[in-house]
Amino acid sequence: MLTLTTHNPEQTMSIGERLGRVLHEGCIIALIGGLGAGKTVLTKGIARGLEIKEDITSPTFLIVKEYIYGRLPLYHFDLYRLDNISQSGLFDIDEYLFGNGICIIEWAERMEEILPPMHLRIEIQWNKGNQRQINLIPKGDRTNYQGIIEKFLHKA
Ligand SMILES: Nc1ncnc2c1ncn2[C@@H]1O[C@H](COP(=O)(O)OP(=O)(O)OP(=O)(O)O)[C@@H](O)[C@H]1O
Ligand SMILES: [Mg+2]
Repeated sequence: MLTLTTHNPEQTMSIGERLGRVLHEGCIIALIGGLGAGKTVLTKGIARGLEIKEDITSPTFLIVKEYIYGRLPLYHFDLYRLDNISQSGLFDIDEYLFGNGICIIEWAERMEEILPPMHLRIEIQWNKGNQRQINLIPKGDRTNYQGIIEKFLHKA
């Protein structure tokens, strides 16, 4: 696990940007953190690191938004309005999860039971004021997400 602390949105964005530069196809990022923790700010940074020029906005009425004009396609999920995705039957989420893009999932705990075991879990903790603690946690056996964290550190 790698723990980072930020003191303003720009710092969180820049962590996202650095991470976005070292992601490869098929990466899944599960974002955990309460309302206003900074999940969307981090996602905007990752999109920048993927060279996506479009503005990232939270998918309010949609569950997923697709950004296909960057270095890799980005699928940005927001499950806030979903009680349980396995019961939603709304769409074939596997097409995204096992596709060639990057999946970033806000409120990923709402699909815990169908989340592939190998993913990068990012927990954002809100302590006080503008300070955020960001934990990068590689999940799954023989995970390649440890390698991503190492690349992230070395490309600083
Ligand atoms: N260190 C920080 N990192 C990120 N955001 C910060 C920080 N300090 C203050 N903020 C503010 O916190 C808010 C984070 O909002 P954001 O939309 O990213 O949260 P979220 O986790 O996506 O919430 P939601 O669950 O509603 O989608 C923004 O208004 C941002 O300006
Ligand atoms: Mg959000």
